[in-house]
Amino acid sequence: MSPQPTFWSNPIYLRTEQYRTEDNLADRQRIHELFSTNPQNWMVWVLGMGRVQAGQKLLDVGCGNGRLWSQNFSVKHPAELDVTLLDLSRGMVETAVSTTTGRVAHLSGVEADAMALPFPAEAFDRVFANHMLYHVPSPTRAIAEIWRVMHFGGRLVAALNGPAHMRELWNLIGQLLNLRLATVSSAVAFGPLAASAKLRVQFKRVTKHPFDDSLRVTDADLLWKYVLSTNALREMLPPETDLHSVEEEFKAIVNRAIQKDGYFFIQKEVVAFVCEK
Ligand SMILES: C[S@@+](CC[C@H](N)C(=O)[O-])C[C@H]1O[C@@H](n2cnc3c(N)ncnc32)[C@H](O)[C@@H]1O
Repeated sequence: MSPQPTFWSNPIYLRTEQYRTEDNLADRQRIHELFSTNPQNWMVWVLGMGRVQAGQKLLDVGCGNGRLWSQNFSVKHPAELDVTLLDLSRGMVETAVSTTTGRVAHLSGVEADAMALPFPAEAFDRVFANHMLYHVPSPTRAIAEIWRVMHFGGRLVAALNGPAHMRELWNLIGQLLNLRLATVSSAVAFGPLAASAKLRVQFKRVTKHPFDDSLRVTDADLLWKYVLSTNALREMLPPETDLHSVEEEFKAIVNRAIQKDGYFFIQKEVVAFVCEK
């Protein structure tokens, strides 16, 4: 069985189920926050790629629950910024605005689609589009829209996952379900290779920056919550699957690795593109 990853860019599913609230995203963020091997905080690193300066107007496209702005933000950057948080999901915009309130001078939340940004041309100095272009039905349109709303001399930071991202996790699930789960990777929908080509068509200068990281997971229950939070199982589980026995087997294997090695290892493949207009 080789299912098609239609859920990646189905806006109705994304807005009304997967990202209706922050819950699914938060279950995944928890795994990265607790078990990442790179001591550098990802959000701080990727925000740093923007070389943000005081007084700038910033746009975060597909802002999710606003983690980019709530993690150590006030320590790393000047507060006198104008930040617009945009997402397809109203629930995400509300959460992002509430967690960012008080951290920047001017803050607004906008519920909109990245393919039709409701802003005039050249409105922003910096745009962030992290882990979201693989959800957009036409990344080409979203990239053109981002380019349009940026100042000349402005900077886009766009993060994506490569095909090896979380490979050990999906290999294990595939093994348990007897499925080929290569299509689980967001890189199949829109990965660094495709992004590099499309970004270079639009932007004057594009550089690619890998974030060297992996996971050493020591909690099988939290890792199972991660699995359940994803799009992946949705279209792939044969209807007769006994999820409870899959869960038991999954946790037993992960716990054996934890007992033997001290952790269950998962590689990551994450890159940030820095694009200048
Ligand atoms: C994986 S989350 C990433 C959130 C955040 N950027 C981060 O790095 O934590 C993807 C976000 O993109 C949003 N999204 C998906 N399709 C979108 C679209 N067409 N336009 C705007 N936002 C979209 C989702 O609602 C979700 O909040």
